[in-house]
Amino acid sequence: METLSQKHETPSPERQNFYRKISGANVTPLWEVLHSVITAQPNTPCVPYLWKWQQMRPWLLEAGSLITAQEAERRVLVLENPGLRGKTRITHSLYAGLQLIMPGEIAPVHRHSQSALRFIMEGEGAYTAVSGEKVTMNVGDFVITPSWTFHDHGNTSGKPMVWLDGLDLPIVELLDAQFMEKGEGQAQQTSRQATTNLARFGNTMKPVEYKARSRTSPLFWYPYERTRDALETLKRHGEMHPCWGHKLQYTNPVTGDWAIPTIGTFMQLLPAGFSGAGYRSTDSTVYSVVEGQGRCRIAGQVLEFGPKDVFICPSWMPYSLEASEDTVLFSYSDRPVQQALDLWREAIT
Ligand SMILES: [Fe+2]
Repeated sequence: METLSQKHETPSPERQNFYRKISGANVTPLWEVLHSVITAQPNTPCVPYLWKWQQMRPWLLEAGSLITAQEAERRVLVLENPGLRGKTRITHSLYAGLQLIMPGEIAPVHRHSQSALRFIMEGEGAYTAVSGEKVTMNVGDFVITPSWTFHDHGNTSGKPMVWLDGLDLPIVELLDAQFMEKGEGQAQQTSRQATTNLARFGNTMKPVEYKARSRTSPLFWYPYERTRDALETLKRHGEMHPCWGHKLQYTNPVTGDWAIPTIGTFMQLLPAGFSGAGYRSTDSTVYSVVEGQGRCRIAGQVLEFGPKDVFICPSWMPYSLEASEDTVLFSYSDRPVQQALDLWREAIT
């Protein structure tokens, strides 16, 4: 294992000649790169960072005056990790963006092999239609667009609507499994309202005739009201974890597995005064603040967060969370993929 930590030195002229000779046939010596491809622990280019809502919101509205949702197809400001600029991603494996839909606008119907989550940050009354079912979205709601399902978004309310988009874009790109198709017209014909989706799958029951067609949850709307109630009850009567307070993971109600096969999604409550123990895990995690104020201590930095801020904790970097008031955090990561491949690790630090 000593070679893994050895410093890279300039090869001798004989070796360089040899490397040049074999390079012409697309061959390269492993020993020159071994130390950088097999590291003792994760060596991510992803860095901690926080995007302030106070800065993002005016820029979103400015984008709203520069381009229509129809022209843009999706009017989104991508949150790019400072260590991964130009790569359209917030972590090595996941994408994040803030999407704006102005009153009266429609983001036209399309489908793609990438799975998407929507986490609503501002506005009420806009809708997402997924495979002919419509859901009206409110702040704090978590909405799923499963892989290869037609979806369009529209805002029939009188106010701008903003949500956080989370996609598995880099994972699908890594696997070269991208497909995309535009739908007919601007919006889908919708039949069922989302309240029936919640009635069918949101009560620890399912329709007797239901047969799963994918691993993604058939429940695609998780209203904040229900999640918040659950966390409040846990705050009053539940036992708290020393690192993350009260934390729930969104599930596929039929299988009990992750709600999305490639993206793990969570919601947690840190009571006022909470000061969490240090923690790290191999899944870089994107946090979106729903309520409250607090801070994340990571890699010698203090990320002070407030409502609607988004911050990122990269793979294997120890961090701790603190709350000045009751704080609710939504988060997502690639944990389902890592666990499926026996790669996921965590540690209290
Ligand atoms: Fe889409």
